[in-house]
Amino acid sequence: MNLSRLCIIVSSINNPISKIMHTSYSPQLNTAANTALLAGKSIMRFYSRLENLKIMSKGFNDYVSEADQESEKIITQALLKSYPDYKITAEESGSNNTESEYEWFIDPLDGTTNFIHGIPQFAVSIGLCKNKVPILGVVYDPFKNELFCAEKGKGALMNDKKIRVANCNSIKSAIFGTGIPYRKKDHSGVYIETLRTMMDARCGSIRRLGAAALDLAYVASGRLDGFWEFNLKPWDIAAGSIIVSEAGGHISDINDTNEYFDSGNVLASNINLHQEVIKTLQKNLI
Ligand code: IPD
Ligand code: CA
Ligand code: CA
Repeated sequence: MNLSRLCIIVSSINNPISKIMHTSYSPQLNTAANTALLAGKSIMRFYSRLENLKIMSKGFNDYVSEADQESEKIITQALLKSYPDYKITAEESGSNNTESEYEWFIDPLDGTTNFIHGIPQFAVSIGLCKNKVPILGVVYDPFKNELFCAEKGKGALMNDKKIRVANCNSIKSAIFGTGIPYRKKDHSGVYIETLRTMMDARCGSIRRLGAAALDLAYVASGRLDGFWEFNLKPWDIAAGSIIVSEAGGHISDINDTNEYFDSGNVLASNINLHQEVIKTLQKNLI
């Protein structure tokens, strides 16, 4: 892929990227990326006046804010305008009534809990699947102005740089991201077993960063060596999973099958570390 064919308009420390054009990527990828930038701008406006943010409860430990809703509105409107025949599944408003082999999965603000507490680790996530298989995705962190994107067969980028998973091949020196269950009690038993197993294996470090789509993007860019979490939703995974695969990584469920999209049980890392983690979990999980 010729990286010089990527054009980023207006990028500096204080000015977020305002528009991108990847001439070697599809129009769908460019639409998703520019839509994520727009949504990110809106999110940052809310972030700059958090004290006035309206927050609603959706259930136990589950919140939605005006920032999530406004971001989702911006994204769904833009995607529908360009691709009116595609199905859309978005976290806050659900699915439109369209049958299509193409389906957008949208998380308008991944990391809402971080966001409402003023912790700058959150992102917009937009993935496109064809016949339920992710074919492209973008994850945009508007606070750090980092845009991760990938398309099947075309590699993965963070802003204008090609990214690769890390080459760490031992649990002992690896840094893992994870997501600790906090909504559904029924996953905490098995989750604690996996955590105990990783700790007994003397895993280098474990982080709970709080935005699953960004965790996957961090695996793709080698910032994390691996990541695991249970009970994720398709909008958490769709974009991040293709970014991991296109960065040379491997993603599966903890039984090493590719049912992770349906089950939401995800393990992502480079292929060598992946095998070691799967073996360790299989040996130790009851
Ligand atoms: C959540 C975040 C969090 C993960 C949860 C997700 P939300 O998404 O990604 O890191 O642990 O499972 O639901 O609710 O902030 O979009
Ligand atoms: Ca999410
Ligand atoms: Ca969300």
